[in-house]
Amino acid sequence: MTQKLWDDVDEYIEKVIVNEDSALTDAIRDSRNSGLPEINVTAPQGKMLHILAKSVAAKKILEMGTLGAYSTIWLARSLPEDGKLISLELQEKHARVATKNLERAGLSSKVNIILGPALESLAKLQEGNEGPFDFIFIDADKGNYPDYFRHALKLSHSGTLIVIDNVVRNGTIIDTTNRDQNADGVVRMYELFKELKGFTATTIQTVGKKGYDGFSLVLVL
Ligand code: SAH
Ligand code: DHB
Ligand code: MG
Repeated sequence: MTQKLWDDVDEYIEKVIVNEDSALTDAIRDSRNSGLPEINVTAPQGKMLHILAKSVAAKKILEMGTLGAYSTIWLARSLPEDGKLISLELQEKHARVATKNLERAGLSSKVNIILGPALESLAKLQEGNEGPFDFIFIDADKGNYPDYFRHALKLSHSGTLIVIDNVVRNGTIIDTTNRDQNADGVVRMYELFKELKGFTATTIQTVGKKGYDGFSLVLVL
């Protein structure tokens, strides 16, 4: 089985099942034209995030890693009228493109992008008692995943669903000899899955336009 087949099947799923609208395709187009890295979740994955957030009836969502707000749009669209989403982003340019994409999607009033290193923003969210969140999506720099996961637990309540992207990394997570910094961050987060209590977790491997990777699902008990 090849990347070409995974791409073709993703395109089939997009056409037959997902049906992105113009706000989503415009967000992708503007992100590309602005030179942002093309590492957003795929359309089927975005819709999965939307469905998961809706399944827990999320009113408060936290996202780490905004990029051009593609995943943000999918998630914010799961919110009720009075729902809110906070998204954390390091790069000013990414936040600027994201802000425009959110405006076009009509979601500006529901979404707040906090610019800066996510670890600093997370500390401030805790100090300001901004939690708990009902749904948390972790998708920023992978080396900090252990700390992001600890913060996510602190900003959760019983029933919070935490979803984490890029947790298989082409299978390199089981390579003990030459893991890169990203895979290493994921594995150190998995060590916390063993060490910490109060949640139940799994990881699902995925293939598609983003190659071979996976998502972790963590339900806070
Ligand atoms: N969730 C997005 C993709 C995020 S890509 C989507 O699926 O559409 C990862 C993002 O995390 C990038 O925009 C990157 O700038 C941001 N990032 C990297 N390091 C960060 C940090 N320390 N704090 C906050 N954001 C960071
Ligand atoms: C990278 C980051 C992501 O969030 C992703 O989904 C894929 C790749 C990266 O930094 O390479
Ligand atoms: Mg990702």
